[in-house]
Amino acid sequence: MADNKGVHDFHVNTKEAAQGFYVKGAAHLDWGMQRRLGHMFQPKSGNTVMLAFDHGYIMGPTTWLERIDLVIPPLMPYVDVLMGTPSIFRADIPPEERPGLCLRITYDSTVLNDDLSCGGGIACDIESAIRMDADCMAVQCFIGAPGESRSLELLARTANVGLKYGIPTLGVTAVGKDMVHDEKYFLLATRVLAENGANIVKSYYCDGFERVVSACPVPIVIAGGKKLPELDALEMAYRAINDGAHGVDMGRNIFQSDCPAGMAQAIGKVVHDGYTAAQAYEVYEEVRNR
Ligand code: 5RP
Repeated sequence: MADNKGVHDFHVNTKEAAQGFYVKGAAHLDWGMQRRLGHMFQPKSGNTVMLAFDHGYIMGPTTWLERIDLVIPPLMPYVDVLMGTPSIFRADIPPEERPGLCLRITYDSTVLNDDLSCGGGIACDIESAIRMDADCMAVQCFIGAPGESRSLELLARTANVGLKYGIPTLGVTAVGKDMVHDEKYFLLATRVLAENGANIVKSYYCDGFERVVSACPVPIVIAGGKKLPELDALEMAYRAINDGAHGVDMGRNIFQSDCPAGMAQAIGKVVHDGYTAAQAYEVYEEVRNR
């Protein structure tokens, strides 16, 4: 049927607004992958605050996560992504649209066994991840340890099935007790994870981190590690962002703080708003003293 409203303007001479995509390494990914990455990384900063509370899957409950139902839900307004195991989400976390959802889908050897030769296995299949509306699937890799090849196989298989269904994969660098946490190691480990399919890599901060970030074709987020004094944890986050990290995937330095909500908000200021550690510490103090 003829359209009698006049000539449509398809703006053929106007450049498209979005020529790429703001998440590093994701410009050529499928629409669904970009959409899910967009649930995780804020467009204004290109960065993300992920809250990790998956520690119990190898450590049990005594990391101050005895009652996840009480500790984690109050922090949901202040973070971009929650990272945990599917069973804990089902048991303890309300299924709200925000924040984004990163499922740890592998199992590993527990701290009682501490066996880096295991390399892990799949604990949550793709159907479960889709049913839970996951934005991301996390796989831990043991680069330089006996479980390396098994864990890389799990990463590559997850990344392939993730590409098929539009769910990004987070590759997590596991650092064994006796492994050196230095630039040389993280340069290799982060690049290996990215080249084996990870769309995001979780690493640790180290000297020379700007080179680690530069050589990794996808965004790096840093873990916090063991609890530090709040100002030190903010300083580490600040340095990581300043050196090019695209966010944090932090656990103990948030939920073990004496004011987890203050710490989550302070970290958010560093990650998204360019605050220095000292400025962000004021945010933490202000929330704590309310
Ligand atoms: C371990 C992980 C954990 O999620 C991560 O270490 C938790 O964060 P934090 O170290 O900040 O407590 O991926 O492999």
